[in-house]
Amino acid sequence: MPDTQIPQVPYGAYHKTKVPEHDPELTHTGPGTPMGEVMRRQWQPVCMSERLTDVPLAIRIMGEDLVAFRDRSGRVGVLQRHCSHRGASLEYGIIQPRGIRCCYHGWVYDIDGTILEMPAEPEDSRIYERVWHGAYPAFERDGLVFAYMGPPEEKPKFPEYDIYRFPEDTRLVPFSNLYSCNWLQVNENLMDHHHTALLHNNMTVESVDERMKDGLNFPDSFTGMLPIMDWEKTRGGHGMCFMAGRRVSDDVVWTRISEHIFPNLIQVSSLFSTASAFRHGTVCLSRWHVPVDDTRCILFGWRHFNDEIDPNGEGNEEDCGYDRIDFVDGQCERPYDVGQRAPGDWEAINGQRPIAIHALENAASTDGGVYMCRKLLRKLVRGETPPDTSRSMSEDGEQTLHSYAQDVTYRLPRHPDPEGDRKAIRAMGRRVYGTAAEADAVASRDRKAYILGRLDELDGGLRDTAE
Ligand code: FES
Ligand SMILES: [Fe+2]
Repeated sequence: MPDTQIPQVPYGAYHKTKVPEHDPELTHTGPGTPMGEVMRRQWQPVCMSERLTDVPLAIRIMGEDLVAFRDRSGRVGVLQRHCSHRGASLEYGIIQPRGIRCCYHGWVYDIDGTILEMPAEPEDSRIYERVWHGAYPAFERDGLVFAYMGPPEEKPKFPEYDIYRFPEDTRLVPFSNLYSCNWLQVNENLMDHHHTALLHNNMTVESVDERMKDGLNFPDSFTGMLPIMDWEKTRGGHGMCFMAGRRVSDDVVWTRISEHIFPNLIQVSSLFSTASAFRHGTVCLSRWHVPVDDTRCILFGWRHFNDEIDPNGEGNEEDCGYDRIDFVDGQCERPYDVGQRAPGDWEAINGQRPIAIHALENAASTDGGVYMCRKLLRKLVRGETPPDTSRSMSEDGEQTLHSYAQDVTYRLPRHPDPEGDRKAIRAMGRRVYGTAAEADAVASRDRKAYILGRLDELDGGLRDTAE
């Protein structure tokens, strides 16, 4: 909280020049840091598949210099960047049928760090037996390369969410965006949902020119009014979601639920839907906020494309890829003056300083989600959160996880009292979330029908009113 001793007076900048320490417990992710240890217990995307070519790729993840490559047998390797011999960078290495060869003296490393060749060593060299080069397990999935950077004996299975497979026409299209700031402030943007009606409401719209039009593609239903917000802990404290209600008409309300799965995965419900034409959808975006180091991060993710999410073809698969995404709105770096005239997430979040200073903030009524998120993350890094045991049913008996993100329109006649109306919208938001949580016991394939059925029961007219 801000220092109450600082005089709050007009023309008082002189009293406010001291910048306090930031919040390293949550922001730092280098080796051995509390948050870094939490992140290293999960699979993290580290680059896009399309970036793996005939030459190695230098990457930096959570302050570690690494190299990623696909060997000529098609296997993906993620190795520490500097050669175990005398430190040459493997970004200049030569990709082999099996593994990678250091350019300097020709040592060859397999993807698990085994030394396969040392051309200048005698045959009876024992170095093979005592040295393994630093390597991390990695695999490719739908255009993203994932690595596990934690203790080998604790390597978890990759968490399979059913929304990666459902609806059945879903295509996962990979993308990445680089941000020049700490990962946490990008993370916090999700729970800071009021900004959609302010930042994305194009307050500078009168100065927009042709170059910016692409960046203004959120529908009015999404940006046109302040949402009525609520937040809830999910997965026993290993995540949280927001429930954002917007009144569409005297009879119809639209609730969006997006989830943040700790520490750095978000699942976002539809961004393009117009409430009047879209009754129920699931996830539009799965995205990990991966620290490069403490002052840069890369957003790696999949845009989910299916008839439910982009029913009228609003999204564009061609616009998703390396450092680009189809809902522009300042997700990526643009010409400086364009960012000034029509700022979006990229400008707002990077502009909070390379690492935001929490002690200088003045919490307002819109910040409940952000502060809840920090509190839950702090409990997690301190080991105060019980293990996540949330597991859901899949139709084939395999372990899977359900997503709680969804958006739904339903009939809710306007309450004559504005505060009463807000309360009713909030209560319905909780019921919508409740149906998704309750549906954990239902197989993935049947889940949507179950949720819609329950919502119909709750509301008595859900599906007929929103078309
Ligand atoms: S520095 Fe890599 S083989 Fe010598
Ligand atoms: Fe935003």
